[in-house]
Amino acid sequence: MLELLNGLHAQALDELGKVSDLRELESWRVRHLGKKSDLTRILRSLSALPAEERPVVGNRANEVKRDLEAGLRDREAILRQDFLVSASQSQRLDATLPGRPFAYGGIHPVTQTIEDICDVFGQMGFQTVEGPDVETEYYNFEALNIPQHHPARDMFATLWIEPDTAGEQILLRTHTSPMQIRLMEEQSPPIRVIVPGRVYRYEATDATHESMFHHVEGLAVDKNITLADLKGTLIEFCRCLFGEERKVRFRCDYFPFVEPGAEIAIECLACTVDGCRLCGGSGWIEILGAGMVHPDVLARVGINPEVYSGFAFGMGVERLPMLRYGIDDIRLFYSNDLRFLRQF
Ligand code: PHE
Repeated sequence: MLELLNGLHAQALDELGKVSDLRELESWRVRHLGKKSDLTRILRSLSALPAEERPVVGNRANEVKRDLEAGLRDREAILRQDFLVSASQSQRLDATLPGRPFAYGGIHPVTQTIEDICDVFGQMGFQTVEGPDVETEYYNFEALNIPQHHPARDMFATLWIEPDTAGEQILLRTHTSPMQIRLMEEQSPPIRVIVPGRVYRYEATDATHESMFHHVEGLAVDKNITLADLKGTLIEFCRCLFGEERKVRFRCDYFPFVEPGAEIAIECLACTVDGCRLCGGSGWIEILGAGMVHPDVLARVGINPEVYSGFAFGMGVERLPMLRYGIDDIRLFYSNDLRFLRQF
């Protein structure tokens, strides 16, 4: 057995010396170290040997294997080096050429903003959930106190889809508020959620309007929730996103599904003087709609408004990176121009 091994060893090394390119080297490897090589076969059949021969033959076989593997590595290094030298001499390889650049992906600024918003509310105990883009008239309007001929429907230029088989009116949601209803139908208080998502409006596009953009909705329902909770939560949010020092303004506003309703603005990021492009000289930039969930909305989903109360808010997302980076056209976000996207 030992003789056989020594013979194998000598022959393999002899052949290795004559290998002159990488392809031959691979076939040498298969022949002498591969699964079907004599060496592998000997190593596998060791257990069949008499006990006193086993360690001697085993040791030698392993030695041969290690030696052939080392020879293989050395030979490969030499052949690769030879290949580079001869390729560069025959001018097929120019080692001074710059390498191929890696293609880096990046997070879209709108996605990043949504993540930032969800992070801030996440730290305040809000869970993030998502809902369907295609909604029914009931969830988008009716359940939110906006019946068919209510003038508030004019706030939303709606993209309608054909009625479904049950005759229900289908549309692309105009805001993320329908998720308030879906969530309250499914869960009982305490509820604290945040809902990012796409919304759609039937509008001509221009520098500040797109027919698809993003909203983030927030909803908190529990016993003893007051307007002070709403204010505290949103002021904290504005501080986290726009800085400790930035002033926040609350004013009355109207949304049919809240009472009272409010509009929240932050101090302009660029100015406090007249004629500013960002704020039109007012010094304030509106970023949020909010209010206390209307008792009729709570009652409709089976939550007793005598026991529970809640607040809700909604904000447009694109506005925020536009303010932050001085982007003056909302359409840039969705035109897939890499020159624009690579800047983030
Ligand atoms: N959904 C409202 C909009 O589209 C924003 C809003 C959400 C207002 C929740 C109040 C409460 O403008």
